[in-house]
Amino acid sequence: MTLREWSEWAQRETDAIHESGRWRAPRSFDASGPQGTLTESGASVISFASNDYLGLTQHPDVINAAHTALDRWGAGSGSARLIVGSRPVHEELEEALAQWRNAESAVLFPTGFAANLGVFGALASKGTLICSDELNHASIIDGTRLSPADVSIFPHKDLSALGKFLAERGERRAIVVSDTVFSMDGDIADVDDLRAICHEHSALLVLDEAHAALGPHISPERDDEIIRVGTLSKAVGVVGGFVAGPRIFTDLLINRARSYIFTTAPSPADTAAAVASIGIIQSSEGDELRAELRRNIEILRPGHPSPIIPIMCGTESRALEASAALLKRGMLVPAIRPPTVAPGTSRLRVALSASHTTKHVESLRDALIELGLS
Ligand SMILES: Cc1ncc(COP(=O)(O)O)c(C=O)c1O
Repeated sequence: MTLREWSEWAQRETDAIHESGRWRAPRSFDASGPQGTLTESGASVISFASNDYLGLTQHPDVINAAHTALDRWGAGSGSARLIVGSRPVHEELEEALAQWRNAESAVLFPTGFAANLGVFGALASKGTLICSDELNHASIIDGTRLSPADVSIFPHKDLSALGKFLAERGERRAIVVSDTVFSMDGDIADVDDLRAICHEHSALLVLDEAHAALGPHISPERDDEIIRVGTLSKAVGVVGGFVAGPRIFTDLLINRARSYIFTTAPSPADTAAAVASIGIIQSSEGDELRAELRRNIEILRPGHPSPIIPIMCGTESRALEASAALLKRGMLVPAIRPPTVAPGTSRLRVALSASHTTKHVESLRDALIELGLS
C-alpha cells in the first residue's frame, strides 16, 4: 500500500463512520462542577454526564493536596514506578487503598483501563479460562483479549451459564470477572452469588468496582479469592486505577503487569489528591455525600441501586433527539448508541452526583416527563 493509498483508506473509513451517523468528537465543557458552558455554542448547561459521583473533583482539601504535592515534587514523576518514578506519596496511596478496600495490599495503575489491561495479562496464561459477563466494560474485554487465556462470555448475570462454563472447563485454571455496577445500565452484579460460585469451582474472582459509589458492598472479611479493581477517576474525583487483593497477587502484578511496568508513574499531584479524597470518602463527610447522592437518585428513579440511570429510547435517532431536546432546555445528557450498547437499546445515560442540587435533578425529571421519557 502506498502512502497515498493509506490516506484514501483513512478517508473511506472516516466517511463510513460519518454515513452511519456515528462520528464523534470531543466537546469542550468549561466547568468546575456540573454547571458550565459549552465552549463552542456558548450555551450554559447542567451536565448529567460526569462520573464525579461524590463531587470530589472540586473539594478544597483534594485540590490543596494536589497543590502541596506539586510544590514538593513537581509536575511529573519522570519515570516508571520500578525505575525512579516512585515518590513516598505513591506508597501512601497504595496503603490507603488497601485499607479502604480491606485488602492486604494494593497496587496503583495510571488509569482503571490500565489496571484491567494489566490484571489479565499477569494472572492468566495459556490454559486459563476467563469467564466474563457480556456487559463488562471495554477495558475488561480488551484486557482479557490481550491475555493468552481462553475467554467465555456468559449472558448478563446468568450464573447458571457461568456455572456450566466452570463445570466443563476440565483442567484449566479459571478466572471469573464482572463489573459490580454495569456502566451503561447502572444495574448491579450479584456479588455474593458470584463469590459462592467461584468458591465452589475454585475460580479466582475479579470484581471491577469502578462505578460502585454506593456499593454493592463487598463484605469485610478478607477473602483470598477476590481481586478488586477500581478507578480513582470517578467517585474518587481524580485520575488513576488500582488493584487491591492478597499481596501475593499484587506483587505478581508489579512484576508482570505490562501496563504497570512500562508506563510512567502517576503524577505526585494526582496521587496526593487521591489520598485526600479517599480520606474524605471514609469520613462522616463521605457518609453525607453518599446520602446526598442517594437523595438525588430517589428523585429520578426511586430504589435504583446506582447513580447511573439509563433512560431507554430504542432507536439511535430517538436517543439523539431526546438528548438534543434536553440540551435545548440547558441539560447535557449524552445519547449512548451502538457500538457502545446493543442495537435497539440506544438510551440516554444519566449520571447523578452529590454535587447536583435538588433543583437540578427535579428539572431533569420534569423535562423527561414532558418528553414522554420517564
Ligand atoms: C467498569 C469500568 N472499569 C474501568 C473503567 C476505566 O476506568 P478509567 O476511566 O480510570 O480508565 C471504566 C471507565 O469508564 C469502567 O466503567
